[in-house]
Amino acid sequence: MDFMDISKMRVTVRKFAQMPVEQEKIEKILEAGQWAPTAVNYQPQRVLVLNTLENLEKVKSFCTFNYDKKYADLAEECDDKEHGKNVYYYGAPLVLFVSYDETVCWHHPQSGKSSGVTDATIVATHMMLEAASLGLGTVWISYFDENKAKKLLNLPENWQPVCMLYVGYPAEDFKPNPNISGKRFPIEKTCFYNDIPQNVKDGADYGEL
Ligand SMILES: Cc1cc2nc3c(=O)[nH]c(=O)nc-3n(C[C@H](O)[C@H](O)[C@H](O)COP(=O)(O)O)c2cc1C
Repeated sequence: MDFMDISKMRVTVRKFAQMPVEQEKIEKILEAGQWAPTAVNYQPQRVLVLNTLENLEKVKSFCTFNYDKKYADLAEECDDKEHGKNVYYYGAPLVLFVSYDETVCWHHPQSGKSSGVTDATIVATHMMLEAASLGLGTVWISYFDENKAKKLLNLPENWQPVCMLYVGYPAEDFKPNPNISGKRFPIEKTCFYNDIPQNVKDGADYGEL
């Protein structure tokens, strides 16, 4: 499939089939991440593959928060009103936990800023798009308790969590979110040639999608 087609057909999946992801596909996804560019090619990304029941239970426990109506429509199964919780797990059979090693990544000589988050994010993006090209669904997860995750997964102190990618086959009754997936602002609202229109500089209200 052409890259543009993959970019456009990928949507966030928040309901996974209870079916494992084949080992060959896991390896291809990891390989796509391996070839991502990183600052000075330092490759500080550290990807932990989680696909045992024990580890998936740990994931469930660090992506569970007190019930918040604002996020309840992210997926019907995360809306656990009975127990006053939102569980952002979605039944994923495979979780790629993406961190970077802060002792390895490049630091900007002037500002001292670390490139770790950027590097790990590019790696995760490569993996997400490779998964899509293999017919798998993904959701990028930033909302989890990083400290709890670090502890439960026994991450080394110098590994900084960045995101998780849930990967799996979409459930049979999965439907993309009609208010979001496949919808983007017109390109002239986010990309500009040479000059930036004044109303954009002023922080124009882009309104509804
Ligand atoms: C940096 C980032 C953080 C995200 N965090 C979460 C998250 O914590 N939980 C979740 O359900 N979705 C999360 N998403 C998924 C976005 O909500 C989703 O990609 C976006 O609404 C666009 O929808 P689409 O992926 O179907 O095009 C995240 C996506 C990105 C890129």
